[in-house]
Amino acid sequence: MEAGLRTELAGIRMQNPVMVCSGTWGNGREYAEWIDPGALGGIITKSVTLRPCPGNPPPRIWETPSGMLNSIGLENRGLAAFLEEDLPWIAGFGVPVFVNVAGFSEEEYAEVAAEVCASGLAAAVELNISCPNVKKGGLHFSSSHEDAARMVSRVRERADLPVFVKLSPRLNDLKGMCAAVARAGADGLSLVNTIPAMSIDVERAVPRLGNVTGGLSGPAMHPVAVLAVWEAYQSVGIPIVGMGGIWGWEDAVEMIMAGATAVAVGTVNFVDPGAPLAVVEGIRGFMTRKGVARVGELVGLAHRGGFRDEGKGRAPGSG
Ligand SMILES: Cc1cc2nc3c(=O)[nH]c(=O)nc-3n(C[C@H](O)[C@H](O)[C@H](O)COP(=O)(O)O)c2cc1C
Repeated sequence: MEAGLRTELAGIRMQNPVMVCSGTWGNGREYAEWIDPGALGGIITKSVTLRPCPGNPPPRIWETPSGMLNSIGLENRGLAAFLEEDLPWIAGFGVPVFVNVAGFSEEEYAEVAAEVCASGLAAAVELNISCPNVKKGGLHFSSSHEDAARMVSRVRERADLPVFVKLSPRLNDLKGMCAAVARAGADGLSLVNTIPAMSIDVERAVPRLGNVTGGLSGPAMHPVAVLAVWEAYQSVGIPIVGMGGIWGWEDAVEMIMAGATAVAVGTVNFVDPGAPLAVVEGIRGFMTRKGVARVGELVGLAHRGGFRDEGKGRAPGSG
């Protein structure tokens, strides 16, 4: 991997800026049959809770125009099985692993984060305080700046790895929330989680998801995610992992220009397992075409007036 795609995120070195989103890549086994996970910039694992979690009743997935609703509801086998079986296998690919942590109390998040750090196999912890699919926990923990900040401080006290906070785009004051979690010690932001949403089967006049509501992901939400990254970049100096509806390299570059240091590819994995690596290739091709030497030059570029010569040449400050 040539130097141009290399990046660094809260001190974590990555061979390229493209990761896979939590919950959209299972724990990797199915995908490893299709792509080389070792060629990714990093892997974000599915939310893990202290104890096994059965998730929500079916149906849990519904396809919408240009998107998808899911109400998986944090289904996972619990921390012990994750640390014993999944994490060592995923870490074996040699790329940074961000372990996404969820829970039903602040103590649980802190406990899970501490054990993940102690495993020595993770590069970072990603706190899911924005899951729209659980009644207790999830979005509840980001219902106020104070709640979110308290959660981050609790985890920060026990975690000795970088802590990324994953937020919902449905917040009254996203900029204020980003600033609050940064002040509380977050090392980075993951933007964004799915948008709370629902669908009704009109023939039966009932909600289509067993949980009634779910979260919208995919291309339909991409512009919402770009705005969230744009606003976060304006409000804090900590690095951002941009995600939400990235389908191809152009969507990824857009996120980077809005302010993301790295991106994560999600729902498209269900359609095309090769998508994350195609995004890597696409970014590489774009940089060559534009004469951009390092991907870092593109981070936040749209805030700085764009390319100097009307989209044909070098980024400002690229020397
Ligand atoms: C089926 C499915 C399961 C998901 N599970 C999780 C999860 O366990 N934890 C989490 O933080 N986000 C979860 N997400 C949200 C994604 O990580 C991502 O933030 C969101 O889908 C936006 O990206 P995308 O449009 O590229 O999918 C899930 C999304 C989908 C579609």
